[in-house]
Amino acid sequence: MQPILCIVGARPNYMKVAPLMRAFAQAEMPAHIVHTGQHYDADMNDRFFQALAMPAPIANLQVGSGTHAVQTADVMTRFEPVVDAQKPSCVLVVGDVNSTIACALVAAKKGIKVAHVEAGLRSGDRSMPEEINRILTDQLSDFLFTTEPDAQTNLLREGINEASIHFAGNVMIDTLFMMRPHAIPAAQILANLGISGADARFGLVTLHRPATVDDPVIFADMLRALAAVSDALPLVFAVHPRTRSNIDKFGLESIVRGKAISFIPPQGYLELLGLQSAATLVLTDSGGIQEETTALGVPCLTLRDNTERPITISQGTNTLAGRNGEHIVRLAHERLTQPFDTSKRPRGWDGQAAPRIAAILKNLLQ
Ligand code: UD1
Repeated sequence: MQPILCIVGARPNYMKVAPLMRAFAQAEMPAHIVHTGQHYDADMNDRFFQALAMPAPIANLQVGSGTHAVQTADVMTRFEPVVDAQKPSCVLVVGDVNSTIACALVAAKKGIKVAHVEAGLRSGDRSMPEEINRILTDQLSDFLFTTEPDAQTNLLREGINEASIHFAGNVMIDTLFMMRPHAIPAAQILANLGISGADARFGLVTLHRPATVDDPVIFADMLRALAAVSDALPLVFAVHPRTRSNIDKFGLESIVRGKAISFIPPQGYLELLGLQSAATLVLTDSGGIQEETTALGVPCLTLRDNTERPITISQGTNTLAGRNGEHIVRLAHERLTQPFDTSKRPRGWDGQAAPRIAAILKNLLQ
């Protein structure tokens, strides 16, 4: 069997590909990682490879940052020779970043099978670059592995053949269950921030989406909301490079000055897992964190107008809080003062999604 090429490019990809590489090795299926280099800082990259004990990529395309067109085109032109050299049986892409659509498109045009893990998620919001990446990647894919039942409904509505769709569960939760015993205790990180005690209450914040942090008015309103929440609950804010640069560019630092908000750099996987597990409440615009908090049973407020992961609301701990500051503060106080069911878990988020995908792919590719 020719190798499967597994694509990683940006931070949310590593925890999805790590369990797949293990499952392929166990099933004796040859597989290699190709890194597009969409993310390149050690904090967004090398640290995850180490923490997740991932095999080194056979190629790093080093595309770096750029406009969507430049980044996507660079991945395509640099990935093509790798495909020509490796002659893979299949190109496996995960999630919805620019590297996902770029590599899927190269493979599909070369007549190479494309597997999409985390297929069928839809926010219904085409102003999100990820939504465009999701729709097009699914149209190009031969094997579509889904994480929740709504995904199948979305794919069928878009004309995807039902036989190509396989419910697999959530590979990111495979990684979460495997790494949970190795998580860095939150107390270790909090001690340096002046939040002490093994059972200290704190809220964890991550924001990085263009819709949240690229508009100075919306971002300022968000920061004012966080400042208000921090009067009731100290906050720890792990700051993405895009977010950091916009706080500086828009001069927003003064909104949070003197407030109980600790700004820390982007965290490694084991550090963020420790923080998420111990948090009283998580406030985020991330897709993955909506799922991780659901698996951990930690209440999450998603500071967006929509989610492509509705099961985290119906079967999990997530609440869509929108982007209006006052509404966010009201919901945060509700979560902190009123009982909330954190016991539900979606089907197939059981730590075995990657072995299921390996078994199905082995059968399909032979
Ligand atoms: C990308 C993904 C997004 C994902 C996010 C996770 C797309 C369209 N977006 O968004 O879905 O949720 O990754 O982080 O693929 N930068 C650095 N160091 C890095 C990488 C980026 O400083 O290692 C800075 C650069 O200034 C860059 C900016 O962050 O311009 C944004 O990076 P980019 O990869 O374009 O998009 P993300 O916002 O990270």
